[in-house]
Amino acid sequence: MKRCDQTHAWAALQGHFEAHGRELDLREAFARDSGRFEAFSVQAPEVFADLSKNLIDIASLKFLLSLAEECELPARRDAMLRGEIANPTEGRAVLHTALRAPPGAGPFSAEVHSVLNAMLDFAERVRGDTGPGGFTDVVHIGIGGSDLGPQMVVPALQSCTEARQRLHFVSNVDGHDISEVLKTLDARKTLFIIASKTFTTQETLANARAARDWFFAQGGTDTERHFVAATSNVAAAAGFGISTTFGFWDWVGGRYSLWSAIGLPIAVAIGAPAFREFLAGAHAMDRHFAQAPLAQNLPVLLGLLDLWYRNFHGFRSRSVAPYHQGLKRLPAYLQQLEMESNGKRVDLAGELLPFATSPVVWGEPGTNGQHAYFQMLHQGSDVVPVEFIAVKQPAHPLAEQHRMLLANCLAQSQALMLGKTAAQALAERAPTAGTDFDPQVLAMHRSFPGNRPSTTLVLEALTPRSLGALIALYEHRVYTSGALWGINSFDQWGVELGKALCNALLPRLSSGDTEGLDGSTAGLLRRLHG
Ligand code: F6P
Repeated sequence: MKRCDQTHAWAALQGHFEAHGRELDLREAFARDSGRFEAFSVQAPEVFADLSKNLIDIASLKFLLSLAEECELPARRDAMLRGEIANPTEGRAVLHTALRAPPGAGPFSAEVHSVLNAMLDFAERVRGDTGPGGFTDVVHIGIGGSDLGPQMVVPALQSCTEARQRLHFVSNVDGHDISEVLKTLDARKTLFIIASKTFTTQETLANARAARDWFFAQGGTDTERHFVAATSNVAAAAGFGISTTFGFWDWVGGRYSLWSAIGLPIAVAIGAPAFREFLAGAHAMDRHFAQAPLAQNLPVLLGLLDLWYRNFHGFRSRSVAPYHQGLKRLPAYLQQLEMESNGKRVDLAGELLPFATSPVVWGEPGTNGQHAYFQMLHQGSDVVPVEFIAVKQPAHPLAEQHRMLLANCLAQSQALMLGKTAAQALAERAPTAGTDFDPQVLAMHRSFPGNRPSTTLVLEALTPRSLGALIALYEHRVYTSGALWGINSFDQWGVELGKALCNALLPRLSSGDTEGLDGSTAGLLRRLHG
């Protein structure tokens, strides 16, 4: 299997980039080709994608698709979906797709559906018990992949479902996080979900202990009823005193685990039928990824674009702009999904890579981002491809505000592409010009380079099904770029060193012992200990 830079297509892309790609002008491309929008847009399950405002042409796309073929992307994808070891540094299969396959389809179907049914039954019981003895509040305690998925999905689906309980998420080891939540709760009416794949994570265990201590201090006794766990380490959960446990398996990576028992708070918030819809949407995208020809395969196309921008154009980051308030945590979720997966600099053979991998992924919901950092996107010195997400149907009755939202979304991608020359700026009347400021100079300040790329993803409505499809789209896109880069997208050794050093420093924060530490850490520890 070849790495992207060892292919003929890579060399062809380099030649094409130097000859045409670097200079491609989107305004000219649209002027030349009235069918550009149709040629560069794709309808995948639940998600329409306009790729036409990206810096690609037919030739670059052709070479990128050849690159995917030469790297044997389809064969590698199929091997992963079959359950072969796709995470070799941890010796594991990668089968989050099995979690959303219908009964009887996909590997481990019997185990998957048995836990799923048990979890959904439990969620329905929690939802259904709204009497005086029922739960009014559910606190989900977890971090990273055991937090970001549910924390993103629950608010996203709030407006189209009926949550019966208040959902709270606690992740940070910073005691402010859990303290603020506990203040608002009644122990007799609170359910705690302790979510940790390993059940060894420092932050989660510290918060779980704090929750249990608080529960006892409030006079609670029935931990069996008030504490449940989602984990693949059932023994450790039992050791903590939790007897109701929903398990999952080592072939579910942490940042791919919201489809498993880690999704319990989602099921409590939206109910079993909607959770099944959520899985069905993801499964539809899985089938698209597995079956659509590469040229119409949306996750593959987005992964190829990521490589094109990172390795040829040299763009260092990508901004995500969801034009739906419900998706406010999507950028944070994608930061883990993309950067923990593809933030690697060594290939599968242990070779240092001679090219760049994961971009920095960041963003905020539109229109808030417009009034913060869009200045830089439009006029800054770096080009940052932007990914807009528009949702056609709102889940609120404020139709005019929704039109404003969509107009803003369209205007931003239009402005990034069209830009404005100094001559155009000069021809306009400057609204804030000081009388003695040179109009030519002012026009420079008011000009926009344009030709800045963006993708727009469109959902008909934000529903459990469409959100499931959208998340699966991102998962497979990350897989695509990671596979072409020749890295293992499914391990995360980069988080281990800091954890080990933290464990070694923890006792020193009480003792104040700085023996053998580097000068800076010793100096800081002296300031902080005690
Ligand atoms: O941050 C590293 C990490 O291992 C993530 O990959 C994972 O999602 C998170 O910690 C939480 O781990 P656990 O579910 O085992 O508590």
